[in-house]
Amino acid sequence: MAVHTEVPHTEVPHTAVSSRAPYAAPIAVAITGASGVQYGLRLIECLVGAGHEVYVMISKAAHRVIAVETDIELPAQPDRLAQDLTARFGAGEEQISCFGREDWMAPVASGSGNWQALVICPCSTGTLSAVACGASNNLIERAADVALKERRQLILVPRETPLSAVHLDNMLKLTHMGAVMLPAAPGFYHRPDSVEAMIDFIVARILNQLGIAQTLMPRWGD
Ligand SMILES: Cc1cc2nc3c(=O)[nH]c(=O)nc-3n(C[C@H](O)[C@H](O)[C@H](O)COP(=O)(O)O)c2cc1C
Repeated sequence: MAVHTEVPHTEVPHTAVSSRAPYAAPIAVAITGASGVQYGLRLIECLVGAGHEVYVMISKAAHRVIAVETDIELPAQPDRLAQDLTARFGAGEEQISCFGREDWMAPVASGSGNWQALVICPCSTGTLSAVACGASNNLIERAADVALKERRQLILVPRETPLSAVHLDNMLKLTHMGAVMLPAAPGFYHRPDSVEAMIDFIVARILNQLGIAQTLMPRWGD
């Protein structure tokens, strides 16, 4: 890391997180192997559209679910995945970075890394349980552990039904730790006329949580 000794200490800006220009603060998105991978992919697209740098992690099971639920073919290798997502979502140069299961050198592996929030979307019950007990056995679990210890925003989008006592216990535990449980449970009061509208319902809620302006869904009362 470059040290700018010519800048007096008092002039260092107080922004908590800065990003590589010209992008807004990096947001990490992890897609795990629960149903509803479309939520995660749409979220990445919206974060790119909002000008954020995006760090992407996709678990092995999520790649399997993507193959089952969509016609999208995504490469597993992180560099090729980043190229694919960059082209797919019209992202800028180096706006999207992808990291593998054991890429411990990734920014999300450390509290000193430059990133603002982690969204696990969708979140499998397996990853939910690993995060609740601090397993840190792969990069997604480690990033969640870092978010909790650093008091950074951690948003989990679990998808399972019905929920067992184990699932509910883990959700309550994580809520008490400061994580936000945002289940993949779209409402119907906006009368969605497509699957895309139902996906956007959830993605809009995530963007609202992150404080990122969105036009996918009007806020209640607007
Ligand atoms: C097509 C498909 C759909 C699945 N749906 C769910 C689901 O909705 N919720 C869930 O918790 N697990 C679901 N699973 C099981 C998880 O993928 C599995 O538990 C996996 O170990 C999760 O690993 P990960 O958390 O590392 O991604 C599904 C698996 C497949 C293949």
